[in-house]
Amino acid sequence: MIILGIESSCDETAASVVRDGVEVLSNVISSQTELHVEYGGVVPEIASRAHVERMLPVVREALAEAGVGLGMIDAIAVGNRPGLIGCLLVGVAASKALAWSLGKPLIGVDHIAAHLYSGLLREAGVKGETQSLFPAIGLVVSGGHTSLYEVTSWVNFRRLGGTIDDAVGEAYDKAAKILELPYPGGPMLDRIAQRPDADERAYDLPISRLNPGSLDFSFSGLKTAVLYAVRGVPGARGGVGGAKAGSERKQGAEKNNLHGLAEAIAGEVVRPTFGEQDKINLAASFQRAASAAIALKVRRALDQHDVRKGPISSLLVGGGVSANSRVRKELGAIAVERNINLILPSLAHCMDNGAMIAGLAYHLYAAGKATGMDLQAVPSTGMV
Ligand code: KG4
Ligand code: ZN
Repeated sequence: MIILGIESSCDETAASVVRDGVEVLSNVISSQTELHVEYGGVVPEIASRAHVERMLPVVREALAEAGVGLGMIDAIAVGNRPGLIGCLLVGVAASKALAWSLGKPLIGVDHIAAHLYSGLLREAGVKGETQSLFPAIGLVVSGGHTSLYEVTSWVNFRRLGGTIDDAVGEAYDKAAKILELPYPGGPMLDRIAQRPDADERAYDLPISRLNPGSLDFSFSGLKTAVLYAVRGVPGARGGVGGAKAGSERKQGAEKNNLHGLAEAIAGEVVRPTFGEQDKINLAASFQRAASAAIALKVRRALDQHDVRKGPISSLLVGGGVSANSRVRKELGAIAVERNINLILPSLAHCMDNGAMIAGLAYHLYAAGKATGMDLQAVPSTGMV
């Protein structure tokens, strides 16, 4: 079965042709980064207008690259939720027009579930996953979501927890902005954090645990800690937590203690000296804390799994931050330690793409979940 998948939920206009849910015949992504860079974030109105202009050329290119004509497409799939409403509407309208004119089924796909599926995608000719995957723990780490799920089939997801404030990708982007790294910041921060001269223990940043047993995430404290490390803590004598911060501080000397605000004097901001090496060290310390917070909650989710449902077979991961070098390493270690399959997307399938939409749609269709022409664009996820 050949499915054309369309994705337009945020700032990527994407279309892909996928055979039998796994074989990616084409994966065309038109990223709008250059349109939003001067604003430092996605501007919804600019994004939806760009989708209108790019949608048909992207679909044409996806068909051409796959070497299939519209007549060979068996169904049209579209990410119809969650996302920016104006952006989703463009993909939904285009998909309805194609499905209606071709007389083919239309399948609405939840973008979050599609991210969890993305690790199953394979380039044409490469053998796919054959081991049994379920029950699985699903982890979505993206710019808009950071959530854990229990997954018992491709149509059965139970939400275990999610972020109570920022998504991890959002925290990456905000931290990168504070560090004055170019937009979009997440991948750039990852890059400098990997430098061999980076000291990831230079800054003692908070790893959010929340209540014992909680499977929720929180990243706003981490982001604020980065802000204070760069600009100084309001009211703290001697800069960040009283430690001698910045390049004046000897390497390996006393760590910046961000919790030690006891000697704070209201209203006074003492700015630490902050040099290039400090930027690299702070990026690495942020990366360590962010990935540790994710790993902590994944281990908790595995610990809390009810074994009467059968042992967890795999960890399904997806979303932009699944491209992160440190997150991939930490999850790899968990998979070895717990003897489970780690299903990570290839780097090409971490970011928003149409292949994950077409791939998951294959299973939704098989489960009788094709949607009709009344398919709606919905800003929120249905996976609650
Ligand atoms: O899944 P995605 O493409 O869009 C959403 O559905 O949100 O994720 C985009 C997010 C952005 O916040 C971006 O900075 C982040 O993923 N990201 C990364 C990396 N690559 C992308 N964050 C950290 N390290 C990376 N290597
Ligand atoms: Zn996404």
